[in-house]
Amino acid sequence: MVANLADKTSGIDYSALIKNDRVHGKLYYDEDIFQEELEKIWYKQWVYIGHDSEVPNVGDYVTTFIGKQPIIIVRDSNQQVQVFLNRCRHRSNTICEQLKGNVGGFVCAYHGWTYNLEGELKALPLAEGFGDNFNMADFSLVKVPRLGNHRGFLFASLAEQGKSLEAHMGIASENIDRFCDTSPSGKIAVSAGIWKMKIKANWKMWIENSVDLYHAISTHASNAYMAQMMGEKSPTLANKMPASIGHFDKVVLRDLGNGHVEADMRPLRRETGMTYTGDWSDGVPEAAQNAFIEKMEAFHGKQKADDIAIDGPPHTVMFPNLFFMLQDIRWAVPVSVDETWLYYAPTMLVDAPDEINTMRLRRDEGAYGPAGFQLSDDLEVWERNYRGIATRKNEWIMMGRGADMPIITDNDGRPTQADYSEHSIRSQWQHYLKVMQGGS
Ligand code: FES
Ligand SMILES: [Fe+2]
Repeated sequence: MVANLADKTSGIDYSALIKNDRVHGKLYYDEDIFQEELEKIWYKQWVYIGHDSEVPNVGDYVTTFIGKQPIIIVRDSNQQVQVFLNRCRHRSNTICEQLKGNVGGFVCAYHGWTYNLEGELKALPLAEGFGDNFNMADFSLVKVPRLGNHRGFLFASLAEQGKSLEAHMGIASENIDRFCDTSPSGKIAVSAGIWKMKIKANWKMWIENSVDLYHAISTHASNAYMAQMMGEKSPTLANKMPASIGHFDKVVLRDLGNGHVEADMRPLRRETGMTYTGDWSDGVPEAAQNAFIEKMEAFHGKQKADDIAIDGPPHTVMFPNLFFMLQDIRWAVPVSVDETWLYYAPTMLVDAPDEINTMRLRRDEGAYGPAGFQLSDDLEVWERNYRGIATRKNEWIMMGRGADMPIITDNDGRPTQADYSEHSIRSQWQHYLKVMQGGS
């Protein structure tokens, strides 16, 4: 294969593998490409790692990964969130294997080197044998080079230098704001647990699917049947079902730049007149609903609270690994070319009445819990998606729905399409192409 002249960093010609309306199967199964993704995306770009509400108190920690590199997110003695590489400075053992907990410090299981919450090496057995020049101050845990926090959402970059988090997010940061602003305190919390699952599929199949409305018609047909059945029982509820899949042609697929893409439900919601709080009316006592509306108006002002109620939360994927899905967030960590960890977290609205947060949690369990009817649909298609790719004939993956339709530029200058277009997926791939050719 002849290397693309535009690609100064690789022998792989990505432009030969990524066309406007199709991409080559190799991009999902090739080990060399996966290794390059680690270097050019996961270890270089900004990556979502967790939410600061997962570590609310001093000593709280969670362990996770950036790509394949293990990290620890911890609240230090000064209430600051620190992110360390999970690697002992002696002979590289991970210093923490628990998913989460609360500690006064970290003790390596191998030879007992002991670090405080600030990552400083504070004690080690038989220290005198390391010689006169040994200085514990030289052996602190290594911090991730760059850490950013946008409204509690923690992003890290393993590159010492590069574009700022603000530049990386661009206008997609407004979608994080929209997500948080559905709370009467402007804050959400990842405090109700996280579902973590490993799927047998390449990570990119997950981000594609997350802004793919086209699949909802088939993969999630049971949603539509359920809405229909509930509608027969309760016409009021039927009117409030956001999953009236037949209306998804009104949803606008927007390229937000830098690989971030949105399925903007606002045109649909504005047309149907459904409201955020109206979604809840059959599940939450009226007093709690009224208390919520009062708090929203007190915090945001009446006009903004009304707008939020109509527009609702976003449906947005931030490249490479964070997905806002109405009332929950999800993120991905690649394990290998053919395996991916998925984290699904219901979010709680800080200061909202308990009944509302309970209802949000029950809804999340019903749709995306271990026995959730929507998650099981998607889990099945992702793994079928990956199994199919093992075939080695006609390897192009077609994503051409809407490729011949006009692209509408919105008021922010962003390209959009509607009508179940695969524009959102094509936008992700065009950004991927740029990054894999050495861009940022
Ligand atoms: S590897 Fe951690 S103390 Fe030896
Ligand atoms: Fe789905």
